[in-house]
Amino acid sequence: MIKPHGSDSLNPLFVYDTEKHHQLMKEAESLPTLMLNSAAAANAVMLGAGYFNPLDGYMDLADALSVAENLHTAEGLFWPTPILNLTQDISDIEGASRIALRDPNTEGNPVMAIMDVDKIETVSDEQIQFMAGEIFGTLDPEHPGVATFTSLGNNLVSGKIQVLSFSYFQNDFPDTFRTAVEIRNEISERGWEKVVAFQTRNPMHRAHEELCRMAMERLNADGVVVHMLLGKLKKGDIPAPVRDACIRKMVELYFPKNSVMVTGYGFDMLYAGPREAVLHAVFRQNMGATHLIVGRDHAGVGDYYGAFDAQTIFDEKVPAGALDIEIFRADHTAYSKKLNRVVMMNEAEDHEKDDFVILSGTKVRQILGEGIAPPPEFSRPEVAQILMDYYQSENS
Ligand code: ADX
Repeated sequence: MIKPHGSDSLNPLFVYDTEKHHQLMKEAESLPTLMLNSAAAANAVMLGAGYFNPLDGYMDLADALSVAENLHTAEGLFWPTPILNLTQDISDIEGASRIALRDPNTEGNPVMAIMDVDKIETVSDEQIQFMAGEIFGTLDPEHPGVATFTSLGNNLVSGKIQVLSFSYFQNDFPDTFRTAVEIRNEISERGWEKVVAFQTRNPMHRAHEELCRMAMERLNADGVVVHMLLGKLKKGDIPAPVRDACIRKMVELYFPKNSVMVTGYGFDMLYAGPREAVLHAVFRQNMGATHLIVGRDHAGVGDYYGAFDAQTIFDEKVPAGALDIEIFRADHTAYSKKLNRVVMMNEAEDHEKDDFVILSGTKVRQILGEGIAPPPEFSRPEVAQILMDYYQSENS
């Protein structure tokens, strides 16, 4: 099986030993407390689940700046985006060496993790801007990732953590949320060797479906792990339970039994395009995938990134040997009216733009909102029905 990133075996930071877990929960009651923001809480979930192997906690300023600038920590570990615990207010934890981190996304703000504080550093506005520019390729405050990143605070609390909860993900998505440990185990139980991961934050339309099928066939893979984002998205994106239902229906009806695992992970979308694609590759390697599909405008938003920047970054910024996982590159994929099937546009000869069925996300939202199904060339009717029901309930 493919090795995790940066180590021979996976080292999830979740405390699985029940007795130790109990002890740490008890200890947390008397520790100084830091309320995490959602981005830092999502990092804790990913660290706990083994996705961010081999990190052992939140990065300090030297690592954060180094990772932002050249995708390596100060010590030389390849890593695509800073994994930070930035906060506004440190008055409750000043001088403390061990603190409890609390969950902002669950009622009652339960303890999520215990942290051995290594440093509390002040990050200047210039450093925040520098990192945002490197990660997102823009400083436009309208960019949802930039807007979030630049509002988290100027205090960087770094150090090792022991994770005690997966936040709301296990309760809200019991059938879908999976740790990297669980996915690795399932891949190994199924005896899969060549495994394609599919990142998504959308209900799966026909282009998405066909990308999985093409990758599986062309790579002669044993199976696909659809791995959907379950954390926070920008306004207008479709909520995770609706996407989950769409994906499950599509897989049930249109893929052979046991060829697809439907799973999800607890992370907030960064909208960092190319940089996020590389992070996606790192954590798919950690969960045991050998290939990650990267298509058009992967993890993008608006017009901030070139359609295939998330592919070229693997040539330009990922040194040979830095990752074991490989990228399955896909061109813009759409239904061809001439061929009556979904194709990669660069493989369709003698086609004009009008020969393809192409709908923008905005257009799809608009017609669904009006109670009209997108054409069957774009969405499977059973998926369209779930989406229409959702939009109708939103509008009523
Ligand atoms: S993402 O933010 O998670 O990347 P989305 O769920 O829409 O968004 O895309 C999932 C994956 O499918 C990404 O690799 C993306 O590049 C790819 N993709 C989505 N639609 C298309 C398309 N029409 N053609 C090619 N690739 C696509």
